[in-house]
Amino acid sequence: MAGHTFSLDPKQVPKVSTPHRLINTDIPAPGTREVLERLEASESRSMQGQLPLVWDRAEDFSIFDIAGNRWIDFTSTIFVANVGHSNPRVTAALQAALERPLYSCYAYPNEIRARYLEKLVAFAGEPFEKAFLLSAGTEATEAALKLMRMHGQQQGKRRRGIVCIEGNWHGRTLGAQMMSSNLAQREWIGYQDADVHHIPFPYPWALDGRDGEAFLEDGLRQLQAAGIDLATDVCGFMLETFQGWGAVFYPPEFVQAIERLCRTHDILLAFDEMQAGFGRTGKAFGYQHYGVTPDLISCGKGMGGGVPLSGVLGRAEIMDLPETGNMSSTHSANPLVCAAGEAVIDELQSRDLIAETARKGDLLFDALHRLQERFPDHISNHLLGRGLIAAVLFRHHETGEPDGAFASRVAERCMQKGLLVVHTGRESIKLGPPLTITDSALMEAVDLIGESVSEIAGE
Ligand SMILES: Cc1ncc(COP(=O)(O)O)c(C=O)c1O
Repeated sequence: MAGHTFSLDPKQVPKVSTPHRLINTDIPAPGTREVLERLEASESRSMQGQLPLVWDRAEDFSIFDIAGNRWIDFTSTIFVANVGHSNPRVTAALQAALERPLYSCYAYPNEIRARYLEKLVAFAGEPFEKAFLLSAGTEATEAALKLMRMHGQQQGKRRRGIVCIEGNWHGRTLGAQMMSSNLAQREWIGYQDADVHHIPFPYPWALDGRDGEAFLEDGLRQLQAAGIDLATDVCGFMLETFQGWGAVFYPPEFVQAIERLCRTHDILLAFDEMQAGFGRTGKAFGYQHYGVTPDLISCGKGMGGGVPLSGVLGRAEIMDLPETGNMSSTHSANPLVCAAGEAVIDELQSRDLIAETARKGDLLFDALHRLQERFPDHISNHLLGRGLIAAVLFRHHETGEPDGAFASRVAERCMQKGLLVVHTGRESIKLGPPLTITDSALMEAVDLIGESVSEIAGE
């Protein structure tokens, strides 16, 4: 991730052997530098920056490297392996599609696609009636943007305004970057879409005694002052279900007040469920924590169980706005990804993984609270997240300021001990194991974070 480069010099680290972990070599392991150097020579630099661990294979909640070391995975790659890495049901579904054989047929009809879309829409439940499938998450957020604007045009809105939230993030293609508020990342675009607006995010530390609704009203006043009228100039609100880097959720009243505005002014409400969807937060979709009903949800990551599958879901009247051919893509609804997607839903349901995630989330957060109490000078008391998505925020023990360097060291130390966490490049580490993780591996991993913090704090 940006801002930090991990050392490639092999370091002698204590050997580890537990039922869940094996560290038998120096770390980074022998052979790691060579693979990284080959990639550096042949691949865009923008793909670099992760912890130096060369993945050889991954099964359930374990990652194995090229030297035979084994890690507990607290990343799910990047919240993708919700049903576990190389899930046997997903593997069998892919094998069946390959053996049929049918692994590409563009937009020509096929049975697997029909079956999956029916299952997906049923899984999403009310009010969702139709879906449109894509490959990348950023395409799914852009598809929501397009649908919101087409809907606004149909309603006869004067402008195509989309209201987004500061600090939220929706992907790396043009429209998604316009909706994200990371200014540095969208510098390359060279202009700002005059009809994409941002209002402040209600961070717990920014509320200043206000409730979520009052905070929203302050943000909306800024829009009004800029001459934007919700009734005539806005056709959509786009919300990342929780803010990614820190797993920061909104106060429910903030989201509920947005929903009321949407209903009053014929505005569509869309959630970017990329990280939050498919059971991650202990509900099928993260928006369900807010007691609201969106018009559109954009999904990806865990949806495909490891294959590139994303999509947007909504009511038929919205999903059918684009004319035939105006919303499709070469690999949309590819038979392989549909087969995998179907297996993901079957797996979530047959193993009751969503309720299990809520239960394990309680275990995780209890353990993290105990950790915070042990290290109050280093770990912020804002322990953020829900279910099996959590962020631990580090602060400088003297100044109390966000401490990104400490977070990077914790991520690196955890790796040396056999635990992979998400290094965000900011003051947080994120924790998002496969939803299939066992209780004992979950607790072992939190202990390792504690060991790492303790060692680094003492150095
Ligand atoms: C909230 C959110 N939206 C959109 C995206 C973009 O997804 P993708 O990287 O698959 O294009 C991501 C990916 O990290 C994300 O976390």
